[in-house]
Amino acid sequence: MTKPKVFITRRWTESVEAKLRELYDVTLNENDRPLTADEFKSALQNYDAVCPTVCDSFPAEVLSVENKRCKILGNFGVGYNHIDIEAAKANGLIVTNTPNVLTQSTADIAMTLLLMTARRGAEGDRLVRAKKWQGWCPTSMLSSNVTGATLGLIGFGRIGQAMARKAHHGFDMNIIYFNPSQVDEYVIQDLKAKRCETVAELLAQADFVSLHCPAGAKTKHLINAQTLKLMKSTAHLINTARGDIVDSQALIDALKTKQIAGAGLDVYENEPHIHDGFLELDNVQLLPHLGSATLETRTAMGEKVLANLAAYFAGETLPDKVC
Ligand code: DGY
Repeated sequence: MTKPKVFITRRWTESVEAKLRELYDVTLNENDRPLTADEFKSALQNYDAVCPTVCDSFPAEVLSVENKRCKILGNFGVGYNHIDIEAAKANGLIVTNTPNVLTQSTADIAMTLLLMTARRGAEGDRLVRAKKWQGWCPTSMLSSNVTGATLGLIGFGRIGQAMARKAHHGFDMNIIYFNPSQVDEYVIQDLKAKRCETVAELLAQADFVSLHCPAGAKTKHLINAQTLKLMKSTAHLINTARGDIVDSQALIDALKTKQIAGAGLDVYENEPHIHDGFLELDNVQLLPHLGSATLETRTAMGEKVLANLAAYFAGETLPDKVC
């Protein structure tokens, strides 16, 4: 029997690539080079399944290419804002994603950034490496307490809740959250979490604001010049969700003028092209979209895509169907 033709846009972990080779007539991106829109179009025309990652853009213009062979986009990642879902539907394409398996590693990175920005971790590292450290002194590099502080989560789904658990049970933090839909009563009680009716209410109270909402028209530039003004001057912003949620220029201005104390970022508008303004600031911690970047998590994400493809080719219910 001929194997289905599958196109993988970037390198995946070794064990998952081995399974792909065994199960499918697979084309891997051996050089791990970012591909072009034309290469995506050609993949859609020549393969049964195309598996993009969160850094590959699939706008309507790509998805509507003529003479498509592809029927399913098995996305490697939980976020799918890089795929125009309406256009995928209009073009008869199924889209799947990889939820659950990256919850803990992404929440770990959010907590890492919270600790780094609170305690000036990257700045301290730069000081030592530059051989500028002049020794311990009672007033040097003073920072902010994490233990007992108030953490405000915008978006309180799987990753937001995992972050809240680490913060509350590990660091005794008070949890407040904003979430458009109701949250399980058990979760609220376990975390002694307080619901805020508006983002503004949360921003005014939180010592640390962590973003965990999806990207989209409703959340684009949710954090902007106006909303940043609502934060305490001692507060820190953490973004491990998507870059588009924050207006980069407004955040740079707020950090430069010390309108807020600091920020920890793992995601950016227009990745991987980071706004130069961030690079000049000491009070922002910058990570290169590391949220799910553990060997275990990336392998589990690949396994999720495999499970979705297997179900599709067997005509079974898809475990993680987006549309
Ligand atoms: C995702 O899966 O959406 C993450 O951002 C990848 O790290």
